[in-house]
Amino acid sequence: MRKIAAGNWKMHGSRLQLDHIKALAERHKEAACDIIICPPAAFVSLARDYAGPLEIGAQDCHSEEKGAYTGDISAQMLAELGATHVIVGHSERRAGHGESNATVCAKARAAQKAGLIPIICIGETLEERKAGAAQHVIKEQLDDSLPEASDSTPFVVAYEPVWAIGTGMVPRLEEIDEIHQLCRSELRRSHPMLADETPLLYGGSVKGSNAAEIFSVADVDGALVGGASLKAEDFSPIIEALEQS
Ligand code: PGA
Repeated sequence: MRKIAAGNWKMHGSRLQLDHIKALAERHKEAACDIIICPPAAFVSLARDYAGPLEIGAQDCHSEEKGAYTGDISAQMLAELGATHVIVGHSERRAGHGESNATVCAKARAAQKAGLIPIICIGETLEERKAGAAQHVIKEQLDDSLPEASDSTPFVVAYEPVWAIGTGMVPRLEEIDEIHQLCRSELRRSHPMLADETPLLYGGSVKGSNAAEIFSVADVDGALVGGASLKAEDFSPIIEALEQS
């Protein structure tokens, strides 16, 4: 399986900032991992022009192909702009836009139907972790957010503990290991044909300074990176750590 360094720009960036994509594309022409940048949808097409061997993803899509959904974007439209991936179920969407596991699952299916690979995010809140419910929450999110097993179209899972996103707090390596092992074994049960080929990304305060130790965890196949993906000089060391892992 090819490992993945994915950057989630969230609602950041500008035309000028696309130069960072150009710089990454030049610096990582023959990367030993897949590099995916997910800028705001408004920049997907322009970003594609700058991306060379890098892939471009989006941060969300609607679950329907078309219709009266003002302000929304379908997976098919993102594919037409040159996206290959789309993040679905990011905790900022789950919390800020009331997205349930069922919504996330419908979006993941819509992405697959449009030929995109969904990066399906899961993760517990701090309260859930403190209550000892992290494993239960993760199992439930996996059960209810992933597309059916009968479909052998690939997808990516990103474990992003909500409390680690943008906070500088990172779980202990044993905690990451425990959840990634849980995800792998759940996938083997629910999606036996895809389980060992499904990249499991870790996300939440990944930086150049902690990337190598996070990538040393056995079932971590890459990262979904927010803040540290905005500048080429910050994202490059993470890509290099992944290539060396
Ligand atoms: P962060 O965000 O790397 O800034 O913590 C990760 C994410 O939200 O995907």
